[in-house]
Order: sequence, then C-alpha cells, then structure tokens
Amino acid sequence: MSIAVCPGSFDPPTLGHLDVIGRASRLFDTVVVAVLVNPDKAGLFDLQERQDLLAEVTADLPGVTVTTFSGLLVDFCREQGAEAIVKGVRGAADVDYELQMAQMNRSLTGVDTVFLPTSPQLSYLSSSLIKQVARYGGDVSELLPPAVARALAAKLG
Ligand code: PNS
Repeated sequence: MSIAVCPGSFDPPTLGHLDVIGRASRLFDTVVVAVLVNPDKAGLFDLQERQDLLAEVTADLPGVTVTTFSGLLVDFCREQGAEAIVKGVRGAADVDYELQMAQMNRSLTGVDTVFLPTSPQLSYLSSSLIKQVARYGGDVSELLPPAVARALAAKLG
C-alpha cells in the first residue's frame, strides 16, 4: 500500500492546498495530511481548528486522513510508514525553497518528495496573502473551500 504525507501549516487551508491533496489522493492509496505543530508561531487558527477544517474539506476524498505532527517531518514519515512527501509548487520561488528541503529530507532518511505543480488558476494563492487581504476587508471567499471561508469570516468578525 502506498502512503504519502502532505505536510504544511494550513493556516488556513486554501483551494490550492485542497487541489494538491486531491491530486495526491489519486496517486497514493493513503494520504496523511499533517499539520505542523509550531510552538514558535501561534497562527490565526489553532491546531484543532485547522485539523477540523481540513477533515471537513477532505471528507469526500478517499484514503485521506488528517493529523498533526511536531519535530522532524522525516521522523513523522517513518512513523507513518510513508514512502513519499507530497508538496505543491506554485513557481520558481517555491522550487528553490522546496528543493533544498526535499534534498535535506532525502539525505536524512531516504524519503523522497513528489512535487505537484499547482493548478495555474490557483498558483497565486497563499494562506498569508489571503489572511492579509481578508483582514483589510477584501473578498477571499472564492479562494477558499466554503467551510474555510465561513470560519475565516467568523474569526475576523
Ligand atoms: O506550509 P508550510 O509552512 O510551507 O510547511 C512547511 C513544513 C511544515 C513542511 C516544514 O516547515 C517542515 O517540514 N517542518 C518540520 C520540521 C522539519 O522537518 N524541518 C526540516 C525540513 S528539511
């Protein structure tokens, strides 16, 4: 059985994340969506909220589970029995950054990273940018799964 880990901060999950997770679920039997526990960065949504939102928006995707992890990603992959890490790449800047992490992760335990090019219509999305626009009253509802758009609107009042 093929298992992949799809890691990230997911603060909050966007349509870009959902696109990558959905495509990964067609390539692997099991996709473990793993939300990073980052004690140095509080985030807008707490861990439980991110996990709940991800579980809700991936509920119809076969083989997808959602959990949290702390520490090294490669250790989490080993615990899960995962043979691959899946990452979406939006452009050259992502490749520069992600390539370095992929090579480090492979050198640590041999786990490989599979890069999925983000769908072009979603390649400008980032959680940070979406939060910034939303904080100033911009409409980001088309850029998020509906449940996340509702949660963000509620969070920002
Ligand atoms: O959504 P993000 O913030 O781009 O995700 C980054 C993430 C969680 C994939 C990365 O920060 C990570 O893997 N953190 C776990 C700690 C770790 O393994 N660091 C070494 C990476 S080579």
